[in-house]
Amino acid sequence: MSQKHLKSKFVRQFLCATHVSTIDFDELCESDVSLILDLLSHEILQKYPLKVSYLAKFLKQLINQMEKKENELCDEIYYKYIELIQQDINNGPFYKHYAFIINETNEVQSILTIKESTSFVCNGTTGLCTWQAGIAMAFWFIKNTEKIDGRFVLELGCGTGLSGLSACVNCKPREYWFTDCHLAVLESLKHNIEVNVTRNKIGCIIKTMQLSWDNINDGLFLENIPDVILAADVVYDVEMFDSLCQTLKWFLSNGTVEVYLFCTLRNHSTYRKFLETLKCFHLNFNQDTIANNYSDLLIQDCPINVINIKSNAT
Ligand SMILES: C[S@@+](CC[C@H](N)C(=O)[O-])C[C@H]1O[C@@H](n2cnc3c(N)ncnc32)[C@H](O)[C@@H]1O
Repeated sequence: MSQKHLKSKFVRQFLCATHVSTIDFDELCESDVSLILDLLSHEILQKYPLKVSYLAKFLKQLINQMEKKENELCDEIYYKYIELIQQDINNGPFYKHYAFIINETNEVQSILTIKESTSFVCNGTTGLCTWQAGIAMAFWFIKNTEKIDGRFVLELGCGTGLSGLSACVNCKPREYWFTDCHLAVLESLKHNIEVNVTRNKIGCIIKTMQLSWDNINDGLFLENIPDVILAADVVYDVEMFDSLCQTLKWFLSNGTVEVYLFCTLRNHSTYRKFLETLKCFHLNFNQDTIANNYSDLLIQDCPINVINIKSNAT
């Protein structure tokens, strides 16, 4: 995939299967249409396909829009659309491709391919698709590389691995440990790491491991204390707040310098309860809301807050 393809916001949104209703098809121009057509037969989309029903919905909207503007469309688009609606393969695996650009220059820095479930809860876990706060964290790394460069980072509840892979590809951590409690999540994560390490230059040590907040392996971590702990979209279930805060407290008392938690504010009372739990554990924090236009690949239907907790020693 070339810079030419990825410079178009429309193409970048298409590649990560941005919900059709949130894409501004009014901005669509003829050059975008030919780029999309080109991509539909590109080897990346052949090997790591987007969901068939998404492609069909997207093409339908694209055709409608071009017809509305009375633009000529080549027959190939219509054939492709008909071919898609006749296919009955919606059982995956399906992928999303996230392109990271540097805002100032609009240059594409990297592209990550992530296998994702198309439902929020699958196989009893929420970790098989990427959540909004996870996407926000992935883009935050591009703007805040100094927060993790040269450091040993551990991510809690890492899910598909998009955020961590962005850290490893777009920044220079010394070491990055992906952790999650769910075995199916770790399996899928390993696949995502494999797909992306062969295509991108990664200079740090990467590890994946099972870590449940209910049961930290003191022995392992006392010898391997991360400098920074990160997590995205892990604040949603009040029942987990005590064990999550206990885990954060343990790391911060044993040498971790700081924690960043990316939280989607879907339910304000749940979020408030989490802040109260942090206070009960004597964890001192600051919080900030990320800007509305943070990334054109991020749908911010709810605010996204970043909670920064520092160890008392700093
Ligand atoms: C909503 S998903 C977020 C995934 C990813 N961080 C993202 O933003 O896309 C929550 C993740 O936390 C993990 N998780 C939930 N409870 C956990 C626990 N007690 N210990 C460790 N991980 C947990 C889930 O398996 C899941 O991967």
